[in-house]
Amino acid sequence: MKSVTFKKYGSSEVLEISEVANPVVAENQVLVRVKAVSLNPADWHFMRGVPYLVRVQSGLLKPKSGRFGVDLAGVVEAVGSKVSEFKVGDEVFGQSRGALSEFAVATEKSLAIKPSNLDFVQAASVPMAGFTAIQALRNKAGLKDGQSVLIVGASGGVGTFAVQIARVFGASVTGVCSTGNLELVRSIGANRLIDYTKEDFSSSFESYDVIVQTAGNYSLKQLRKVLSSDGTLVVAGDSSGVKAVFGMRFIFRIIKSLVITKFSNQKVPPFLAKSSKQDLVTLAKLIESTEIKPVIDRTYSMAQVAEAVAYLEAGHARGKVVITI
Ligand SMILES: NC(=O)c1ccc[n+]([C@@H]2O[C@H](COP(=O)([O-])OP(=O)(O)OC[C@H]3O[C@@H](n4cnc5c(N)ncnc54)[C@H](OP(=O)(O)O)[C@@H]3O)[C@@H](O)[C@H]2O)c1
Repeated sequence: MKSVTFKKYGSSEVLEISEVANPVVAENQVLVRVKAVSLNPADWHFMRGVPYLVRVQSGLLKPKSGRFGVDLAGVVEAVGSKVSEFKVGDEVFGQSRGALSEFAVATEKSLAIKPSNLDFVQAASVPMAGFTAIQALRNKAGLKDGQSVLIVGASGGVGTFAVQIARVFGASVTGVCSTGNLELVRSIGANRLIDYTKEDFSSSFESYDVIVQTAGNYSLKQLRKVLSSDGTLVVAGDSSGVKAVFGMRFIFRIIKSLVITKFSNQKVPPFLAKSSKQDLVTLAKLIESTEIKPVIDRTYSMAQVAEAVAYLEAGHARGKVVITI
């Protein structure tokens, strides 16, 4: 089968379409004929091997597996003997390492039935960005009805889910984005908008109960200035991009966050989104009840994967970037 692979770390030029053996489905696994795979910044972090910290998992000098992509949607092609939840022909979405291939294997707990009102492209866009948004707002910030939320990076892959999910929780949402994305962020439910090209929210007198940062290069000090005295700041990511090779900013931030959380009423919990079957099902329900809807920026073919990754790396995606198989 065809699969996108990389033999060395580097820019998107290292990606190639290789012929690899079809995966064999183990007794507790599901074989999926992949229809679409969405890209996430994590994909290019592993492709570049930066920050270097990721190499602890992916291989010090060269990639151990060299398989690419995680978030997928497709059709069940075969199931292992111990699989009870899925059958051949089911339309599913979820996660599998090396998903950007004609076929992928996944465990039952990393898949769910695709929401019936989404096509494969939309469904593939959900897992990682959706997990990040819901886990940041619900698990880390404990978002409650009536609270005010600032989403920094409201037009990106995570941000477009975060704006909508925060509204589902009954929050009043302020989205930070650039001029060209104001209408998009308004259309997905933001109550207020801040155009970061014209206004620096961090020097305003507003304060928010919850802040989720997904983009921009704001310091913790700047963000805490507009966080209420007992508010929660969740830093999911920023715009340091490919330049952050040593990840020192990330490490210092975690240390500072722990100190702030210990010695002030403001909370800055460390955050890393996790794959979760329960959250996949929750997201599917929110989508089927039309409370949230994926925002798709661009789709590319498998042959255009290098172009797609370079586009995402530039940091200006409006919603999600998806590869169709
Ligand atoms: N901690 C975790 O577990 C976890 C999980 C998933 C993702 N992440 C991280 O979260 C971050 C966001 O991921 P993503 O998929 O949403 O990335 P993305 O789709 O590439 O984000 C791009 C968006 O950021 C916006 N943006 C850039 N600079 C901005 C600024 N100064 N203020 C406001 N918006 C700005 C861009 O809008 P313009 O074009 O208008 O600038 C664009 O819409 C990444 O750093 C990723 O690594 C972390």
